[in-house]
Amino acid sequence: MRTRPLKVALLGCGVVGSEVARIMTTHADDLAARIGAPVELAGVAVRRPSKVREGIAPELVTTDATALVKRGDIDVVVEVIGGIEPARTLITTAFEYGASVVSANKALLAQDGAALHAAAEDHDADLYYEAAVAGAIPLIRPLRESLAGDKINRVMGIVNGTTNFILDKMDSTGAGYQEALDEATALGYAEADPTADVEGFDAAAKAAILAGIAFHTRVRLDDVYREGMTEVTAADFASAKEMGCTIKLLAICERAADGASVTARVHPAMIPLSHPLASVRGAYNAVFVESDAAGQLMFYGPGAGGAPTASAVLGDLVAVCRNRLNGATGPGESAYAALPVSPMGDSVTRYHISLDVADKPGVLAQVATVFAEHGVSIDTVRQQGKDGEASLVVVTHRASDASLSGTVEALRSLDTVRGVASIMRVEGE
Ligand SMILES: NC(=O)c1ccc[n+]([C@@H]2O[C@H](COP(=O)([O-])OP(=O)(O)OC[C@H]3O[C@@H](n4cnc5c(N)ncnc54)[C@H](OP(=O)(O)O)[C@@H]3O)[C@@H](O)[C@H]2O)c1
Repeated sequence: MRTRPLKVALLGCGVVGSEVARIMTTHADDLAARIGAPVELAGVAVRRPSKVREGIAPELVTTDATALVKRGDIDVVVEVIGGIEPARTLITTAFEYGASVVSANKALLAQDGAALHAAAEDHDADLYYEAAVAGAIPLIRPLRESLAGDKINRVMGIVNGTTNFILDKMDSTGAGYQEALDEATALGYAEADPTADVEGFDAAAKAAILAGIAFHTRVRLDDVYREGMTEVTAADFASAKEMGCTIKLLAICERAADGASVTARVHPAMIPLSHPLASVRGAYNAVFVESDAAGQLMFYGPGAGGAPTASAVLGDLVAVCRNRLNGATGPGESAYAALPVSPMGDSVTRYHISLDVADKPGVLAQVATVFAEHGVSIDTVRQQGKDGEASLVVVTHRASDASLSGTVEALRSLDTVRGVASIMRVEGE
């Protein structure tokens, strides 16, 4: 074993960074044995230097992250600051000064992954980011390496623990959205400003990263269709139950049936209780992968939290250190397929549509005609009458999002349709 240590600069020492530092210290001997050289924490960049940081020698702490990555003797920079800047500049500077990088930063990778990969390649360095998607769950490496010989057709997952916690609460207790969100906030599962989670921004960043890797194609954050889950109601859960389904916020990356394009989208959807993703409870994450040869695979585990996320960061750290000792780099960006990313209108799925209609003869026929005119085939219809009003629940066969949008627009213009109470996609069948 080499005795000269590999030097690690830790940028950020918050929820994730403090756990990375702790495990690097407590597991130092095992890490050294697995890597073939000791790893040394050479510096820790933070914003507030006076904060007490257990287990970290005060002389390692600095507020000058730039000077730390420019030292010239750093082998690996671990970026767990988050956000776009200064993380982006620090990572590119790290490459320029000869270091490889491990990051947990989904927002940055979804936005600037291509440029960061190019910078890593220019400097013969590694850029690893297992922790950026689904926390502790090994997912990036299985997609990039274990499945590199297969053809992935679909990646569908619950990649945000906050929203899964809220939806699970609504499902199991009958609570409304706000009540479930309040509980998630009180228990520390939701941030004071939950927008990034509940509006699907966080999941969309992860979908962009997953789609890019799965389909060997650049998928930008702007390419991902995004719909949050704030409009999901207790009534939607009741409808889902009647269909033997539950509701999850899903990130779905799909290859089109003809293989010529891909789509990436995030939205709430009904899934059958028999689907493996339906049993993912609380703040857990899970990703369901379908490929030509392997068939169906499911990756499940904690998608966030200090220690679980640090586990993924340390796995990357070991891999990057091994590469460095071997004078090699791991796989970089693979975007050779360069498939077009289709707009949401081209996505094909089933729909559950709940309409408030007048309770009189002929309404059902009128509604059915509108569906037929737009080429959307109906699977089931359920009607419930009440005091001259009625609700009509229509479940369709697979149709494009564009055809469904046209259908809904036409339904809204019917005199007999008082309102479209909800539209929910049905996945996983
Ligand atoms: N938390 C999770 O469960 C989780 C899961 C998966 C991925 N991630 C990702 O991991 C990253 C870190 O998340 P986190 O939850 O650990 O964040 P956090 O608790 O807010 O920690 C951020 C750290 O960065 C430091 N920092 C902020 N601005 C800085 C600057 N300009 N220069 C130097 N240091 C700076 C902060 O310093 P102070 O300590 O002085 O404030 C803090 O130590 C993010 O990209 C996040 O998306 C987090």
